Amino acid sequence: MEETKASLYREIEISLASLLDGETDEVVKMAETAAVLQERMGFFWTGFYRVNGNDLLLGPFQGPVACIRIPFGRGVCGTAWKEDRTQVVPDVEEFPGHIACSSLSRSEIVVPIRRDGKVVAVLDIDSKEVGTFDSTDASCLERIMAAVFGD
Ligand code: SME
Repeated sequence: MEETKASLYREIEISLASLLDGETDEVVKMAETAAVLQERMGFFWTGFYRVNGNDLLLGPFQGPVACIRIPFGRGVCGTAWKEDRTQVVPDVEEFPGHIACSSLSRSEIVVPIRRDGKVVAVLDIDSKEVGTFDSTDASCLERIMAAVFGD
């Protein structure tokens, strides 16, 4: 199971490398990455929030409408930014301060994206099932973010 998931992520990384070859625009990269992850993995919501002042501001995404601004340190996304590390949330009801953009979301993973060592954006993925994400998702998604956006 974990091997299947890891090989799916490897295929996604290869697809993105070919799709985004030579592309430097960050919005294009976020839009295509969200689309490929969502389509291939069948997630509920896949998207990006970009650092904008003291908030994270909604960026390209796939899925239902979402919250637009998330303050530093708030929710799963703001915590990933503040702590500068990936957050794996097996059950959103167990995460104090989780921001529910949709009541259908049951588990979540948020991966920081850095430039010059500072968090500039986060990848946020939501699932309708409890316990979708684990350390395999974390390590594979961190590797894909580094490959697409640099580190
Ligand atoms: N649940 C997130 C908010 C963003 S939505 O899931 C798209 C959070 O707690 O930061």
